[in-house]
Amino acid sequence: MHPDAARVLLSEEQIQAKVRELGRRITSDYAGKEVVLVGILKGAVLFLADLARAIDLPLSLDFMSVSSYGHSTKSSGIVRIIKDLDESIEGKHVIIVEDIVDTGLTLNYLKETLAGRDPASLKICALLDKEARRKVAVTVDYVGFAIPDEFVVGYGLDFAGKYRNCPEIFILKPEAYGQHS
Ligand code: IMP
Ligand code: MG
Repeated sequence: MHPDAARVLLSEEQIQAKVRELGRRITSDYAGKEVVLVGILKGAVLFLADLARAIDLPLSLDFMSVSSYGHSTKSSGIVRIIKDLDESIEGKHVIIVEDIVDTGLTLNYLKETLAGRDPASLKICALLDKEARRKVAVTVDYVGFAIPDEFVVGYGLDFAGKYRNCPEIFILKPEAYGQHS
């Protein structure tokens, strides 16, 4: 357990078992097809890397990086694209891979944006779902774990850029929040 962890929410074993399960589901749902996994930088990188290896299909990877506008406009759900996809997704079977769905604003925006580019299909796979925080409805087709409304870090998720490399997902000790300012 990381010294800054108050409590481990999901162990490395739980996460890895779930990622393999999601990979098997996607493999059977998309049998005979080719998929494009679109990872949302940076939080989804670790999940995407493991998920891709758990999917037994012809597959390609692409990435987007987005940032929310300031707080006042956040409720509008407008997010800014910092880095767009490298390749066209027209006619492709696309799965957006995200670390966590919180308010849903990011994924709602991304889904609308990518749907406008005429993919053959478009689904969302998120490792974590904080349902209690949802502001806009968004259909998450593949969910790893529903989690309570707590701020979590590890396995790609950060606080102030840290803890992404931890293999488990945990809740920080209150003291740890002060260390990064
Ligand atoms: P939303 O669904 O648009 O509110 O935003 C989801 C994004 O907020 C995720 O991609 C994360 O970057 C970030 N986020 C939300 N909850 C957490 C958390 O508990 N830990 C770390 N990042 C979080
Ligand atoms: Mg993120």
